[in-house]
Amino acid sequence: MTERAPLSARRAGPLKGRVRVPGDKSISHRALILGALAVGKCNISGLLEGDDVLNTAKAVVALGAAANRHGDGEWEVRGVGVGGFAEPARSLDFGNSGTGCRLMLGAVAGCPITAIFDGDASLRRRPMRRVLEPLQRIGARANSAEDGRLPVTLTGADDPIPIVFEPPVPSAQLKSAVLLAGLSAPGQTVVIEREATRDHTEKMLAYFGAAVRVEPNGDFGRGRRVTLDGQPELVPQAIVVPADPSSAAFPLVAAIITAGSDIMLDGVMMNPLRIGLLTTLGEMGASIERIDTRTEGGEEVADLRVRSGVLRGVDVPASRAPAMIDEYPILAVAAAFAEGETRMRGLKELRVKESDRLAATAAMLRINGVEVEIEGDDLIVRGRGRARGGGEVKTHMDHRVAMSGLVMGLASERPIQIDDAAFIATSFPGFADLIRSLGADLS
Ligand code: S3P
Repeated sequence: MTERAPLSARRAGPLKGRVRVPGDKSISHRALILGALAVGKCNISGLLEGDDVLNTAKAVVALGAAANRHGDGEWEVRGVGVGGFAEPARSLDFGNSGTGCRLMLGAVAGCPITAIFDGDASLRRRPMRRVLEPLQRIGARANSAEDGRLPVTLTGADDPIPIVFEPPVPSAQLKSAVLLAGLSAPGQTVVIEREATRDHTEKMLAYFGAAVRVEPNGDFGRGRRVTLDGQPELVPQAIVVPADPSSAAFPLVAAIITAGSDIMLDGVMMNPLRIGLLTTLGEMGASIERIDTRTEGGEEVADLRVRSGVLRGVDVPASRAPAMIDEYPILAVAAAFAEGETRMRGLKELRVKESDRLAATAAMLRINGVEVEIEGDDLIVRGRGRARGGGEVKTHMDHRVAMSGLVMGLASERPIQIDDAAFIATSFPGFADLIRSLGADLS
């Protein structure tokens, strides 16, 4: 990571123009990992070249696969086959990325090798026991630092056992780690989710030829039961990575809260398990038009026309959290510019993201003059249609808090400075330039 880089955002004119945000982070990690576990050559286009994904690329190379860049977002991965990873010579550094680390723990757990997993200070604080426990049931052995944290030394199973796993929290990372480990096990690995989480792993596994069955589970069919037949031969397929809805969220909210704005966001992924923010902003009265909805690389995508407008506060149900888990900091900014109270329910998982995002988001708003409260696992923002600004946002090594603080500065009465913009490059390289190209003032 580069040195600390403060950045500030101030009010300027309306935002105008047409942009495409970088490729989806979740799909990019999975493309590299499944490409590395397939037999033969996998071409990827539109790969997110953010630090998180580049660390995953380095990890698969350290494990014996090849990953070569041929141009902007154009990569070729040569896989070693399911169970075929070789023991790495050095420890694997996942930097800031929980996704890269947890998915690769799963992928390595199904191979008879030992690897050391590590990351930056933020990742070293995040819980890993939740993923190590099911991997140990599959037959892997793990040694971790205190309280199940990184660094973790993982020895994969010699004879992986297929398990039935019910994640204790809704988490696509846990689900994916178990499915990736289950690839090496004979028989069926089953993940039973009480609440459906993003389904990119199961979709891509099926696309690569694995037998994966997905059925509804539980009340109102909100959950899912995913069954994977083990020991498939994964056949590499070309992957086109769509634009990341979690990154699109930042220019999108910027346009909504900056008077007179009218922008287009091209080719944004519309996977139903990723667009809880659009549902919520729609309920708040935002004007977001989906144009030219189409399918690209197996996912629904659309161009979004976003115009500024008046928002009203809403009650966001806890059941929506998995479909917008990364969008709460930026939703909280939108809520500050809405009229009335927005209550975001059931945000416990935000405490264990790149930062304690619940606390960091509340502090970001408070220091900029917004009335905000944390009640249990709920975040309550009392919007007044405007914000004072003028505060310095502490980003706590968290890219989404950093971008949210800057977006807030675009519409606040006084400029907002963030203490460190460096971590934005983990998920959204080129963020500042893209926002500037729409007419924003960042310096
Ligand atoms: C991700 C899953 C989410 C999300 C993260 C990416 C993924 O984490 O916060 O940014 O790609 O699987 P959890 O599934 O642990 O909530």
